[in-house]
Amino acid sequence: MTVAVARARYKDELHLSPEQLKDICHAFVGELRNGLREDSSLLMIPTMVDLLPDGHQSGEYFAIDFGGTTLRLLYTQLSAEPKSVDAYEVQQEAIPDRMRDCHVDAIFDYIVAQLIDFSERISQSIREKSQLVVGFCFSFPVEQSAINAGTLIRWTKGYKITGAEGQNPVDILKQAFTRQGLKPIIPALVNDTVATLAGTRYADGQDTNVAVIMGTGTNACYVEQLGHISKWLPKFLPRTPDMVVNIEWAGFRPQAVRLLPEDEELDAQSQDPGSGPFEKLTGGLYLGDLARRLMLRVGREEGWFPKDQPPQPLTEYKGWATRDMVACVHDESSDLQQTQKILNERLGSMGAWQQLDVRRQVRDICVSVAKRSARLVAAALSGLLLHLERAGPRGQPARPSNEDDEHPRHTNLNPQDAPSTGALHEGGVPMPTQEMLPPAEGGEVPRNVLAADGRLFEQFRAYRELLRDGIADTLGEEVAAGLVLKVTEGGAAFGAACVAAAAHAYVQTMGRDLPSSRTPGRSRTVSKE
Ligand code: BGC
Repeated sequence: MTVAVARARYKDELHLSPEQLKDICHAFVGELRNGLREDSSLLMIPTMVDLLPDGHQSGEYFAIDFGGTTLRLLYTQLSAEPKSVDAYEVQQEAIPDRMRDCHVDAIFDYIVAQLIDFSERISQSIREKSQLVVGFCFSFPVEQSAINAGTLIRWTKGYKITGAEGQNPVDILKQAFTRQGLKPIIPALVNDTVATLAGTRYADGQDTNVAVIMGTGTNACYVEQLGHISKWLPKFLPRTPDMVVNIEWAGFRPQAVRLLPEDEELDAQSQDPGSGPFEKLTGGLYLGDLARRLMLRVGREEGWFPKDQPPQPLTEYKGWATRDMVACVHDESSDLQQTQKILNERLGSMGAWQQLDVRRQVRDICVSVAKRSARLVAAALSGLLLHLERAGPRGQPARPSNEDDEHPRHTNLNPQDAPSTGALHEGGVPMPTQEMLPPAEGGEVPRNVLAADGRLFEQFRAYRELLRDGIADTLGEEVAAGLVLKVTEGGAAFGAACVAAAAHAYVQTMGRDLPSSRTPGRSRTVSKE
């Protein structure tokens, strides 16, 4: 095979045309609507969240955000001042690899120990609180039976933890607290999508009805009319005609995508072969690895190294991380210096990547992998907007921006501007939000504000633009121009605290439980998809 043919081949294989995107979008709408009636590749889980925080919640809360490569812990005092906090502190740290493959008690003991340390470090020891209220963001598929209870369907994102599937994560967490002599109230068990939506609603956007996560894993949720969720019957009278639905889109299989041999290998060598096809094509856990596999293929074909002696890291999982891929995509220097630096660090400084042409190809591979991911997510989001009749302006019009919103939409999210617990704030500090993908220039366009969280969105500027291009190719330029990704400081962890606040206040004032499912623990047929 000639060099030119090899180059063209991987690009062509990863490319998704506008027609393919439209097919994927329509297939997604079909699966979404099926999932509201019966089992589909999208789990479409009613979350029991029928009322989202509106910025008027107050009180002192901790939150645990567990569900990816990072454990996030948060402490906040929600202010009596609307949409504001009196105190706020957050800690993030990478979850050790050994914790991804252990018994569930080990990881939950680790989480509780981290929370104790964190609370002591910020002088808010949870051992000394007369009442400890914790919001729990748990970002794995859970069949919810109440806002604070559910059943773990399965682990995703490479977690292989024993003793938890089929159990209630809140019970498991409470047991870990009990082992430490602590008795917290845990009023909310929420997925990260739901928490992200709730945090944004608290801080700013009452016009936000969708949340999307692009991190280690990927998923979205949205506000659905109860009457459309025909597979589910409420046990209590819901308080509003709506409910947040956790789509759990990892299992969606976009038939229009031709899988590469490298996709098949990645799946076969993953912790859960056959499971989560959409997540494996798009999620941060997998993108760097797919780029690595393609570098191996192209490197062999083009003689970057002897065919049977590739650099060791190129043959190993984690030899090329997603953050390496992101750094290469962001390298806009004419001689691709940054790309060279990363290649030297990962693969050694003697390789073919000392040549600019090879570096260009490495970068091209990284761009193509990122682009396919962003376009797939764009097609799915387009499907969601179509379902919500927000794919205006030629269909139903998307709702215009709310000019009277009392808070500026474009807030600086520099850490130094974020509230911190160091000092208590008299009268509260407005919770910062940022438009990570502001509407494109060029006059009034209908806005579709999506709450967003996850490292890929946060750290991958180019990805956000690729996403917008994908929406343009699926739904048209005008819809794409009005797309806004909004990020709230504290992300899902902050949102979990807000949901906990709303649920706790309701139970306190009404003296009764929140709406729950009529079929708690209902078994679900979960396909391997
Ligand atoms: C999980 C979802 C989660 C998403 C993003 C997926 O693997 O199944 O529950 O929302 O990752 O964290």
